[in-house]
Amino acid sequence: MKHLFFSLILCLFPIAVNATAIEQAPWEPRAAAYRLTLFLGNLNPTPWDKLESSWTAPVPGSALPVSALSRVTEVESADIREALRTKDRQALFEASTTAISGGILRHLDAAETALGTSSGAEPEIAIAEALFRAFEDGIAAADASAAKEIGRAWLVLNSSVGSAGLLGNGIEDPNTIAFAEAKSTISDYVEQNYLLAEFTPRSKLTPIPESIFVSGVQVDLPATLPPGSDIADQREFPRLVLQFEEAGEDEANLPLVAYGDMLFDSPEIFGGPAQELGITCSTCHNRSDVNRDFFIPGLSHRPGGMDVDSAFFNPMFNDRTDDHLDTPSMRGIRFTAPYGRDGREPSLRRFVRNVIVTEFAGKEPTPFQLDAMVAYIRQFDFLPNPKIDRAGLLTDLASDAAKRGEVLFNTKFAGLDDKSCASCHTPSRHFRDGKTYDIGTAEPPFPGGTPTAFETPTLRNVNFTAPYMHDGSLPTLASVVDWFDSTKNLGLNADQRADLTAYILAVGDGEEPYQHFEGTDSVFRLSWEELTTFASTLDTLLPAQDAENIALLVATVAPDLAADASAMTNQAAKPDVYEFAAILRAVGVASAAGDWHEANRQWNAFKIRQAEIDERMF
Ligand code: HEC
Ligand code: HEC
Repeated sequence: MKHLFFSLILCLFPIAVNATAIEQAPWEPRAAAYRLTLFLGNLNPTPWDKLESSWTAPVPGSALPVSALSRVTEVESADIREALRTKDRQALFEASTTAISGGILRHLDAAETALGTSSGAEPEIAIAEALFRAFEDGIAAADASAAKEIGRAWLVLNSSVGSAGLLGNGIEDPNTIAFAEAKSTISDYVEQNYLLAEFTPRSKLTPIPESIFVSGVQVDLPATLPPGSDIADQREFPRLVLQFEEAGEDEANLPLVAYGDMLFDSPEIFGGPAQELGITCSTCHNRSDVNRDFFIPGLSHRPGGMDVDSAFFNPMFNDRTDDHLDTPSMRGIRFTAPYGRDGREPSLRRFVRNVIVTEFAGKEPTPFQLDAMVAYIRQFDFLPNPKIDRAGLLTDLASDAAKRGEVLFNTKFAGLDDKSCASCHTPSRHFRDGKTYDIGTAEPPFPGGTPTAFETPTLRNVNFTAPYMHDGSLPTLASVVDWFDSTKNLGLNADQRADLTAYILAVGDGEEPYQHFEGTDSVFRLSWEELTTFASTLDTLLPAQDAENIALLVATVAPDLAADASAMTNQAAKPDVYEFAAILRAVGVASAAGDWHEANRQWNAFKIRQAEIDERMF
C-alpha cells in the first residue's frame, strides 16, 4: 500500500484540486512557448537549444501543432530570433513578453471590430484570454485586487458580445459600452505591466507585473511547471508486492513500515518547488515500480525520468549538466545495492537522505524518519515469475525460443572481452553483479574525459520498465539486444537475436504487473486501507509524544482528504471523509499544544469511527 487516499479518490472522481493530479488544459502555442521560456530561462546553465525550439517548433502541452513564431508579427518574431541568436536572456524575456501582450491587445481589438458581425467576437476573445493565461498567475500572486478586477472584465467581455440568436430567435445586440470598458480594464493593465519601452532587468524570469516588480515588494509566486509537464500518477496501477504481506503480516502492526509508507507519499519531506508542486517519492517511483509518464519539459529528455540534479528543484546542488536519468524500478531493492544508476552509494539509507536533502531541498530527516523510509522501501519485492526458479534458471514454463536464448546468454563472446551476458547479469544473483562498467552507453562528460560507469541493472521485472539503459535511450528489449549485437560485434543472426530477446522477456516477466480491481476490491477500498494504515502509526507516535512526526502525518493526510471530499461525486461518502480529516486535524492541534490527553481522546474517536465504517464496507 502506498498511494495516498486522495490520489486514489482522484482516480475514481477526476477533479481539479491537487497540483499533482490535474492534467493541464492545452495552452495556446505562444502562451506555451512563453511559459517554457520562463521555466527554461531560470535553469542553469541556460538551455539555449531548448529555448530556441520552444519558439521554432511545436511544444508539448500546446493546443495546436504549430510553432509559436508562426503566430507572432514579423517585428515580434525578429526580436525573439535576435535574442535567441545573441543568447541574451533579458532580451528574450522582453521580446517574448512583448509578443504575448501585443497579441492580447491585437485580439481584443479584433474582437471589438467583430462585435455584431456574423463571425462574432467570441473567437477573438477566446484567443486573447488564452494568451492572457501566460500572465494570469503572476498577477494573482502579486496583485490580488487587479487580478479580481481583470477576472470580472473577462466575464463582462464574454457576456456583452450579444447573440445572433437561433433561427432568428433570441437576437441580442452587443453592449458596446460595457465591452469597451471591460476591454480597457484589461488592455490598460497589460500595457502598463507587460508592454513596456523599457523593462527592469530580472534575475529570475517570472510573469509578475512590472509595476509590482519595480516596487520591490516580495512576491510569493507559487512553483509552476511549464506546459507539457506530467507529474500525475500514470493510469496503470503497478502491483506492489511487499515482503511482510507475503509473510502474512499486516502493515498496521508494523508502525515503522507504515510510517515510512506515509513518508514515501508525503511532499512534506521535501522543500522548495517539489513540496509546492506536491511531488513525492511515489510520483516517480510509482508503487515500487516506475511512473513511465513522468515528464517535465527542460528537465526530462523523454517520459519516465529527468535530470535529478538540476537547478529547478535545488539550486544549491545543481551540477550544471543536463543529464537525464531514467527512473529505476525499486522492486527487490534490498538485493540491488549499490544505489544510483552509477552505483555510487552503497548505503540505501544515505541515498534516501541525499534524495531528500540534496535533490529536493528538504530538511535534514530525523533518524526515525530515515529508519521508517528504509524499513518500508526494503519491503519492495520483485513480482513473482514462475518462468524462472530460485537460481534464475528457466523453468518448463518458458518457451523454446527463450531456452535457446538462455544458452546464448551464457555464451562467451570475444566482443564482450570473453564474457557472457550472464557474467554481469548473474542469474543466481537476480541478474546483476553489484558492479559498475563502462559498456559504452555514455559519452565522456567532456572530450577526452572518462565516461561514467553504470551499475549492471537487474533484469527481473524488466518487461515493465521501458525504456532502457541509464538514460532511457533504447525503447525496447529487442533494441537492447540489437545494440549489444552491433556495438559488441556479437555476430548474432536474426533468429538468435529473437531468441535472446525471448529469453530476457521470460526472465523479465512478472505475474499480474498491474493491479486489477474486482468485486469488493475497489480503488476506494484500497485507498481507505491506505489512509487508515497511515493513521495507525499514531498508535506509536502518540505514546512517544512525537509532536513533530504527528504534525507531518496530519499535514500530509488531512488537507488533501478534506480538499478532495469537497469535490467528490460520491455524495454519500463525503461526510465520512470530512469527519475523518477533522478528527485527524484535532489530533494534530492537540499534540502541537502538548495536550496529550485530548490528542489520545481524538485518536480513540477516530478508531471507533473507523471500525464502524470498516464494518459497513466489508
Ligand atoms: C522526480 C522523480 C523522482 C523522485 C520524486 C524521486 N526519485 Fe528516486 N530516482 C529517480 C531517478 C531518476 C533515479 C536515478 C538517479 C541516479 O541514478 O542518481 C532515482 C534513484 C533512486 C534510488 C536508487 C535506485 C537504484 O536501484 O539505484 C532510490 C533508492 C531512490 N531513488 C529513492 C527515492 C526516494 C526514497 C524518494 C523520495 C524521498 C525518491 N527516490 C524520489 C527519480 C525520482
Ligand atoms: C560487462 C558487464 C555486462 C555485460 C557482459 C552485459 N551487460 Fe547488460 N548491462 C550492463 C550494464 C552496466 C548496463 C547498464 C548500462 C546503462 O545503464 O547505460 C546493462 C544494461 C542491460 C539491459 C538494460 C536493462 C535496463 O533496465 O535498462 C539489458 C536488457 C541488458 N543489459 C542485457 C544484456 C545482454 C542481453 C547481454 C549480453 C549480450 C548483456 N547485457 C551483457 C552490463 C553488462
